[in-house]
Amino acid sequence: MVLSSDVMFQKRILLRDKTEISLEQLTGKERAREFQLFINKLILERAYLIHSKQFSLAEEKKWFAKEIAGNRKGTNIYLKALFRGKLVGSCSAMRGIGKESGNAELGIAIAKGWRGKGLGKVMLKEMIGLAKRRWKARNIHLSVFEKNKRARKLYASVGFREIARLPGWIDHHGERMGKLILVLKK
Ligand SMILES: CC(C)(COP(=O)(O)OP(=O)(O)OC[C@H]1O[C@@H](n2cnc3c(N)ncnc32)[C@H](O)[C@@H]1OP(=O)(O)O)[C@@H](O)C(=O)NCCC(=O)NCCS
Repeated sequence: MVLSSDVMFQKRILLRDKTEISLEQLTGKERAREFQLFINKLILERAYLIHSKQFSLAEEKKWFAKEIAGNRKGTNIYLKALFRGKLVGSCSAMRGIGKESGNAELGIAIAKGWRGKGLGKVMLKEMIGLAKRRWKARNIHLSVFEKNKRARKLYASVGFREIARLPGWIDHHGERMGKLILVLKK
């Protein structure tokens, strides 16, 4: 079956250091175990993510089934970044529901060792393009821990601006920190 790029996104990109990466939407053929390892590594390194504990394989399978269903229905978009078939980055978008269906919320995580090479920026830009084309998204937004300087720099560089600041919102391993809501400038 031939799928147009807007049904099943797939693209090869070159990073700054000329490494070739494949950006692909979920197909449903992936192994939940790989995603479990990917997210659990981020949780272990105490990355500035919302999750507070590692995921079991059963939990990850449940998440994966939901994500696949959302991608098929068109309510979610999940892009994976692969280097020689190995998962090195992920970017997700969730369409708002009902009266908020003109909005899209994004999330992103790049594996340690793959950061600072431009991958986050490319994935974010591709996802913004997809959310605009598929959903005609008017408000593209995300949230970020105040202390996540690297992510904030990336978001600012693609055109996000802060619209709200929630002080002391997060308990990051015992440290209270604020959360910022950012929206992409129109
Ligand atoms: C935040 C994150 C997604 C950035 O992805 P990345 O692939 O490292 O970012 P890029 O290499 O595309 O860099 C994009 C911009 O981020 C900034 N940046 C990248 N590396 C940086 C570093 N080491 N220090 C400070 N800023 C940095 C730069 O402004 C860069 O723009 P430039 O290359 O035009 O100067 C990644 O670090 C990550 O996944 N971190 C852990 C999980 C996380 O924090 N996710 C975001 C939750 S809101």
